[in-house]
Amino acid sequence: MTQFDLIIQGGTIATASDIFKADVGIVGGRIVQIGENLVENAQAGDVQIIDASGRYVLPGGIDSHVHISQPSGEGIVMADDFESGTRSALFGGNTMIMPFCLQEKNGPMRAALNAYHELAEGNCYTDVSFHLIVSDPTDTLLSQELPALAADGYASFKVFMTYEGLRLNDAEILKTLDVARSTGATVMVHCENEEAIRFLIARHEVAGDVAPRAHASTRPVAVEREATHRALTLAEIVDVPIVIVHVSNGEAMDEIARARARGIKVVGETCPQYLMLTADDLDGMDWEGAKFVCSPPPRDKAAQEECWRGIETGLFDLFSSDHCPFRYDDERGKRTPKGLESFRHIPNGIPGVETRLPILFSEGVMKGRIDLPRFVALSATNHAKTYGLYPEKGTIAIGADADIAIWDPSVTRTIRHADLHDGADYSPYEGIEITGWPTTVILGGRVMISDGKLVGKKGDGAYRSARARGAKSV
Ligand code: URP
Ligand code: ZN
Ligand code: ZN
Repeated sequence: MTQFDLIIQGGTIATASDIFKADVGIVGGRIVQIGENLVENAQAGDVQIIDASGRYVLPGGIDSHVHISQPSGEGIVMADDFESGTRSALFGGNTMIMPFCLQEKNGPMRAALNAYHELAEGNCYTDVSFHLIVSDPTDTLLSQELPALAADGYASFKVFMTYEGLRLNDAEILKTLDVARSTGATVMVHCENEEAIRFLIARHEVAGDVAPRAHASTRPVAVEREATHRALTLAEIVDVPIVIVHVSNGEAMDEIARARARGIKVVGETCPQYLMLTADDLDGMDWEGAKFVCSPPPRDKAAQEECWRGIETGLFDLFSSDHCPFRYDDERGKRTPKGLESFRHIPNGIPGVETRLPILFSEGVMKGRIDLPRFVALSATNHAKTYGLYPEKGTIAIGADADIAIWDPSVTRTIRHADLHDGADYSPYEGIEITGWPTTVILGGRVMISDGKLVGKKGDGAYRSARARGAKSV
């Protein structure tokens, strides 16, 4: 007989492969037993029991694409720090997020990382693990810092093909991919052709077309498709797996499918904005379109359907929020004085860490587009596998961390920013009707949200390091 700390009783468990009714027994923060009648067969003692009947017991969500407290240019401040960002993530059914540590130009990555750890330390409601943004691939960074960091558990790098001050050229991307090949790190690529964007921005500004809608017109599908093709080709040349992040349309998806047919290992990611928003949302009155400015921009209804097809068929492995929150009614956010002069100065990014999974559950599972195992794969398991956190994270199995979200499929809610927990002042998904919400969330065996109420505390979440590809997990 086992003395459990916590038993989740009578729920329907789903993993990325199976659905079954069973109880989950937890000891010391980990799952130690999955079976029938655990309460009856448990050793008497001080055990907490959660009745999950009528609810789904799923791995806690892992959002592997989140921006928090990231330096964003002069006078611009992100709306979330680790406290508000992880609290919001938790309410949306997540037990882990992966934000980005940005290397400052001319700056060592270690220094940026130490500062980023300080921001996170003691402030998190979920576990966190960091990706590294490579903005200045010096010889020292490539030959010494990154290999040492990958060995220390910082095993994923993001590179940008766009954004002044961040974008790398092809030679720099090749060199970064080569470090990933030799260290087993994983490279995430933001695919948009910066030269083409600059050309189109100049054309729009000359014509006086400077409102937020022009953000979408200056970053058309072709800009993303070309860069996606190029990134995949560079990965093919180096012979290393690659992650294509925030894919917004079918033409970029076709590039991924063609690359896979050539034998390239590519992980594809899409996000809620490409299922729920269109470029027309950037048309808002009085600069309100700025609320939807993100890159790549939302496309049209046909592209939304293409992205759904990618979710349904398995072309996409990851569904992430790309949560990158700026307040709207704030001169340090979307209404920055320069941004009011031209769309090209509006900070890129939208909030969504709390609404990511309810949207996928409601629009995907409840509307019959995907089943629960696919939901689990897209929301947790594939993130853990892609970024070296599996099998401790991302599944419900003996020995895994007891990171669990219990979903009530009978809850109906309308998304209202007033009910969310991030630091922004709007949600791009305001007014969307949702069926199903995570009502109880457990992190490492500790109940953090109980029937919709926060019972965990800041600091309960911790930093978790990742493993490079090929490193042993047990
Ligand atoms: O507009 C976006 N997506 N901002 C966040 C930074 C990025 O490109 O991922
Ligand atoms: Zn990006
Ligand atoms: Zn992003």
